[in-house]
Amino acid sequence: MSETEIRKLIDTAVDQLKFSYVPYSDFRVGAALLAKSGKIYGGCNIENASYTPTNCAERTAFFKAVSEGEREFRAICIVGGKGGNLTQYAPPCGVCRQVMMEFCDPETFQIILATGKEHYDVFFLKELLPQGFGPLNLM
Ligand code: THU
Repeated sequence: MSETEIRKLIDTAVDQLKFSYVPYSDFRVGAALLAKSGKIYGGCNIENASYTPTNCAERTAFFKAVSEGEREFRAICIVGGKGGNLTQYAPPCGVCRQVMMEFCDPETFQIILATGKEHYDVFFLKELLPQGFGPLNLM
């Protein structure tokens, strides 16, 4: 991924923070998912008074994309923090890593964790979900 592409994803993820619905945790998360089509899908976390129906920002982005016909993805950028303050990385939860495993090649799919356009790190899905169980295991 080029620096320009990464910066665009960071911008989009940060922009999503304003949509986060977080009355219970006040922990805002924004995601920007880049499909192989070139289209970028934003996502925010959406909480619920019953807690468990809460949807993470990453899954919001994936479900938006898949519901519009996308099945192949290159990268996702995730940002987040209490009150929307980006002081540290917001790594994806285990459930979101598993959703990535469903649609992405763990060898090539990139996960960008950022606190701003100047500070980010890029990981492959296989690094954050080693020995992940995916569709190929059922073939
Ligand atoms: N959250 C995400 O949006 N993504 C993650 O991968 C980790 C957690 C959200 C869920 C909840 O709204 C808040 O962060 C605190 O857990």
